[in-house]
Amino acid sequence: MGKIKTMKVTDLELSPEAMMKMGEKALRAVVDHIKSLPNSPRSNLENSAQIVRSFRESPPEKGTNFDTLLDFLMSKVIPVSINTAHPAYMGYIPGGGLYPSAIADFLGASTNRYAGVWFAAPVAARLEANVLEWFSQWMGYPESARGILTSGGSLANFSGLVTARRHVLGDDSSRGTVYASDQTHHSVMKAAILAGIPERNIRLLEVDDNFRARPDLFEKAIQADQKKGMKPFFIVGNAGTTNSGAVDPLPELAGLAKKYKLWYHLDGAYGGFFNLCKEGKKVLNGIERSDSLVLDPHKGLFLPYGTGSLLVKEGELLRRAHILTADYLMDEMAPPEGETSAAEYSPELSRSFRGLRVWLPLKLFGVQAFRENLAEKLRLTKWMYQRFLEEPGFECLSVPDLTVITFRYHPRRGRVEAFNRKLLENIIRSKRLYLSGTLLKGEYVIRVCILSFRTHQQEVEEALEVIKTAARGLETG
Ligand SMILES: Cc1ncc(COP(=O)(O)O)c(C=O)c1O
Repeated sequence: MGKIKTMKVTDLELSPEAMMKMGEKALRAVVDHIKSLPNSPRSNLENSAQIVRSFRESPPEKGTNFDTLLDFLMSKVIPVSINTAHPAYMGYIPGGGLYPSAIADFLGASTNRYAGVWFAAPVAARLEANVLEWFSQWMGYPESARGILTSGGSLANFSGLVTARRHVLGDDSSRGTVYASDQTHHSVMKAAILAGIPERNIRLLEVDDNFRARPDLFEKAIQADQKKGMKPFFIVGNAGTTNSGAVDPLPELAGLAKKYKLWYHLDGAYGGFFNLCKEGKKVLNGIERSDSLVLDPHKGLFLPYGTGSLLVKEGELLRRAHILTADYLMDEMAPPEGETSAAEYSPELSRSFRGLRVWLPLKLFGVQAFRENLAEKLRLTKWMYQRFLEEPGFECLSVPDLTVITFRYHPRRGRVEAFNRKLLENIIRSKRLYLSGTLLKGEYVIRVCILSFRTHQQEVEEALEVIKTAARGLETG
């Protein structure tokens, strides 16, 4: 037998020294970046369409040294963005991005443990299950509950809908109907459509004066559909809408679901974790009566983007909706009683040790720290809302249930909508604050969402000052 001809192959394994050096440099760059956050712009997107054009590139046949690449990332890529880690980022839904979670990602990825199936990393799978069991306990779910960690709330909504569809409708979704308020996040409608529910079967119902679902309209729609021979199967409640943070009347929706034997899904992607603190628990009364619940750790637990979750009260139904097996996944590797393989409950198979980024900060800081931070955000919101009410010219369009304030300014002259669109533009252009806008019942409003763990009283006071100055400046021209 001839020898295999030896060819020179680039060694992709770095030496221990090179790994240390690379790690240290990356760490230093990150720590410098975080240290500089308070003095950095809240957004930097001018001419971005033009700028990105110069970044198209062909595949790099030859390598480049790490220092050059790191410098490129930190000076050319990261700064061209909305600064979502900034304490004054109060647009859309912030979270901040806890550093220990990033370290957890690094640990998980560099050891490259396979957390999709139990047998490949049983202790890692247990830590993920622990995290999901903690979520269940915090939400008042029973021991029968099971859950999954997803990439975000959208996929969690998707798996929730698929579970309900398979359980209630079986293989025929053609007449299945869905009920949600018109303030529901679009990912729920997207989930329904992706799951094969005809778009015409989705009922988006009007809300009350504080943008909460109206159970009377849900009931009317359910009855009308039943008369037409449709199959109502899925009621959606919001434990904090994206637009205004409104919490739907959760017990009433639960009552309706029970009366008509429908699946009750709650989207708590933004607001669900407020159930951890006393003040939030009051607002979210009834959350435990849902059949499935979405919670986004990358919002309410302040994690970096990349983690959502779904809990299903009757966990076996989640499993039945997602389990499919194959010869190459051997039966003897099935988890023992009480343990779970994530892949049996989720659309995914191979994936990272995702739960580590949740587990590490919770263990490191303890749950009390999260409780305090969430309660603080509720207090700050109340404080800021009160200031808006006292401030001449400003109007709030909703009473905050959680941590979103919606406001607009009434100028002495000119159109209100045009003025407020310009006002938001000027606030963003000041680079001292980042907010976003939306429509509530067709009215344009600016939103403040206080959720980053870096946002405290000082940032909220400054935000108010920036808003007031921008409004007066625009008014006096
Ligand atoms: C209430 C609500 N549900 C679902 C989602 C979708 O979550 P994700 O962006 O993590 O997919 C969001 C996102 O902001 C949300 O606010």
